[in-house]
Amino acid sequence: MAVKFHNGENIPLEMHKTRMVQRLNLIPVEDRLKASQEAGNNTFLLKNRDVFLDMLTDSGVNAMSQAQYAAMMNADDSYAGSETFYRVEEALTEVFGTKYFLPCHQGRACENIISQVFIKPGQIVPMNYHFTTTKAHIMRNGGTVVEIIRKEGLEVKSDLLFKGDLDIDRLREEIKTHGADKIAFLRIEAGTNLVGGQPVSMANMREAAKIAKEAGILTVFDASLLSDNLYFIKTREKEFANVPLRNITLELGSLFDMAYFSARKLGCVRGGGIITNNEDLYNKMISLVPLYEGFLTYGGMSVREMEALAVGLRESLDFHVIEQTPIFVEALAKELLLSGISVVTPAGGLGCHVNAMQFCEHIPQSEYRAGALAIASYIAGGFRGMERGTISEVRNADGSEHYAEMELLRLALPKRVFTLSQIKYVADRLTWLHENRHLIGGLRFTFEPEVLRFFFGRLEPVSDWPQKLAQKFRADFGDSL
Ligand code: F0G
Repeated sequence: MAVKFHNGENIPLEMHKTRMVQRLNLIPVEDRLKASQEAGNNTFLLKNRDVFLDMLTDSGVNAMSQAQYAAMMNADDSYAGSETFYRVEEALTEVFGTKYFLPCHQGRACENIISQVFIKPGQIVPMNYHFTTTKAHIMRNGGTVVEIIRKEGLEVKSDLLFKGDLDIDRLREEIKTHGADKIAFLRIEAGTNLVGGQPVSMANMREAAKIAKEAGILTVFDASLLSDNLYFIKTREKEFANVPLRNITLELGSLFDMAYFSARKLGCVRGGGIITNNEDLYNKMISLVPLYEGFLTYGGMSVREMEALAVGLRESLDFHVIEQTPIFVEALAKELLLSGISVVTPAGGLGCHVNAMQFCEHIPQSEYRAGALAIASYIAGGFRGMERGTISEVRNADGSEHYAEMELLRLALPKRVFTLSQIKYVADRLTWLHENRHLIGGLRFTFEPEVLRFFFGRLEPVSDWPQKLAQKFRADFGDSL
């Protein structure tokens, strides 16, 4: 809850108390430099023991409630027919009004099944914006992603409150140009991840779903980041100011032919699933669940996680639960903006997205601005974010680099995990780094995997800039970590 302090400042107040904690380490800058080298300058490859604040992602690392932990004890261990499955199915029906549930071990597993079943080679998949794993699965099945996000979605700074919205004219054009047969499905991603956790409005989803339905095109909703998106529908879309959250989720459940989600995000556990009201679609996908995931009543998830998921889904309808990340993202964005650091605005969900295009404008884009900023900020502060720029893209067919439209450093804020002083620490170290940004240099690959290269790719600095950065830190901060 944002409350106004006596001095006029708006402060994001935690509407929960911490009753179980994990000890953290903040290692000296010289050790951070060493750890960054050992990790091939890729924050994915850092060891947690060397990381102070893990802001890589909110996936599978959100804080769970005591009710979720308690529910885990009720799990019904069984290969087939588990009571736990029916409890999750019931929670999904309650939240989305859907009848069928196909459990999967995580979000990308849903994407694997949906892509295999519904994409024919040569087809296109229009969507507001891709997510890395989504695109990889679509391409593997011979499909092509066509992004039709509104142009403001790709602008770092904008006043548009729903930057994840689809460009409706482009959707009509794509249908006209290609014809419905060439379109495997329309995909809409809530809380558009790669453009800064930007929400999609209900008005836009209604319109897009209607157009697709009229053209006989299947609609798929990626609800992984729905929790943040729900908060924005409720707070930014006037029509919903007084509408209960459940009415919003029920409407979403009725808009699309099917939805899928990463329960590592939605529901704050680890798992995922596909939901639908359409028996034909359900039957088309059902046999792939035991093939890739596990039997139909657990789908690769632990039943204990599933019990926690049932509770977590219901808790996603609690405003104080879903507001926590967005109000903290806003607080961090505000601090950074005050220091003259460009971040994606309006602040979205998931995390604060620093604009590496500006921060590292002196580095050629071919030397990975966002990747360089990710490792430089780890050296400066021991917190690790994730590169969401060119390194996260796929090379063109001729092997040339495909430059990302946005070069972002994502500092994820897992739900209810970090405190305001930790946020202020991150802002302070980034402010120092910004003042010393001329010291940050570029990176180049020493090992570049063909698929999803950002995960395991190893890079080296183009000069000894990381050493110089660490030396400057020591000179400026003295004995302080
Ligand atoms: N869709 C969206 C919008 C996502 O953000 C993710 C995961 C997935 C699908 C895939 O789900 O990880 O459970 O397989 N996003 C994570 C992140 C990895 O860090 O943003 P998954």
